Amino acid sequence: MTQPPQTPPLLESTNSKFVVVQSGLEMVDALAHIQRESFPDLSPTELMRAEHYASQISVFPEGQHALLERSSGKVVAASTDLRARVDFSHYQHRYMDAVDNNYIRNHDPSGDWLYGADIGVLPEFRGFKLSSLLYQARHALIRRLKLRGHVAGAMPKGYGAYSSTAHPGERGIEQYVFKVARGEISDPVLSVVFKRGYAPYGIIPDYLEDASCGNFGVFVVWRNPEMTR
Ligand SMILES: CC(C)(COP(=O)(O)OP(=O)(O)OC[C@H]1O[C@@H](n2cnc3c(N)ncnc32)[C@H](O)[C@@H]1OP(=O)(O)O)[C@@H](O)C(=O)NCCC(=O)NCCS
Repeated sequence: MTQPPQTPPLLESTNSKFVVVQSGLEMVDALAHIQRESFPDLSPTELMRAEHYASQISVFPEGQHALLERSSGKVVAASTDLRARVDFSHYQHRYMDAVDNNYIRNHDPSGDWLYGADIGVLPEFRGFKLSSLLYQARHALIRRLKLRGHVAGAMPKGYGAYSSTAHPGERGIEQYVFKVARGEISDPVLSVVFKRGYAPYGIIPDYLEDASCGNFGVFVVWRNPEMTR
C-alpha cells in the first residue's frame, strides 16, 4: 500500500479526509490502476501506464497531482498536466500528439497555457467532489505560474450512447454539446467541466479512440481571471 504523503499537502478536502499532493514515483502503479479504472473504453495503446507516470513526474513534477485518502494513504484520484503554447485558430489535434504519447517530453517550460492531459477518480470515490479538489489544485498552479489558463480535450463520454438513440435530426455532436452546456442533458465528463467554469471552444474529431465518446474531444478552456490581457 502507498505510504501516507511525505510532501506537505497542497490542499485538503473540507472534511480533512483527503489531501492533494504532488504525485511521487512511489505512486506510479497506483496511478496506472486509477487510469485503467477510469478509461475502460479507451484504446489500450492510449492508456497511461506506470512508465508514463514516471516520465511525467520527472519532466514536470508540479503538474502532476495525486489525491490521497488521509487515513489509509491510498491514491484515489489523479490528474496530469503539461505547459504548452496554444494556437486557438488551429486547435484541432490528436490527444497522443499533444501529450507526446503520454510521456509529456514535449512539455514547454515557457508555455503560457496548462494543457490538461488527464483526470480520473476511482469509481467508488466518485461524487465526493474529489475531481473538484483536483481542479482547484490545477487552477492554483495556473495562478502561481501566472499562466493564461487551462485547455483540454474533454471526452464527451455520453455521446456514444446518445447518438445511437437520439432523434436523427438531433444526433450531431454540436447539438449534443449545446444541450449539455444548456443543462438540458447531462454528460459524465462535460457536465463536470462546465460546472468548474470551462467553456466549450470547438469539437475535435478523431481526438482519440474511445467508442463512448465517438472518438470526439471537446476543446474546453478555463481562463485565469488574474491574467485578463
Ligand atoms: C469525471 C470525473 C473525474 C468526475 O469526478 P468526481 O470526483 O466524481 O466529480 P465531483 O464529485 O467533483 O463532481 C463535480 C460536479 O460535477 C457533477 N457531476 C459529477 N459526476 C457527474 C455525472 N456523471 N453527470 C453529471 N454531473 C456530474 C457533480 O454533481 C458536481 O456538481 P456540483 O459542483 O454542482 O456539486 C470522474 O467521474 C471520473 O474519473 N471519470 C472517469 C475518467 C474521465 O472520464 N475523466 C475525464 C477525461 S476527459
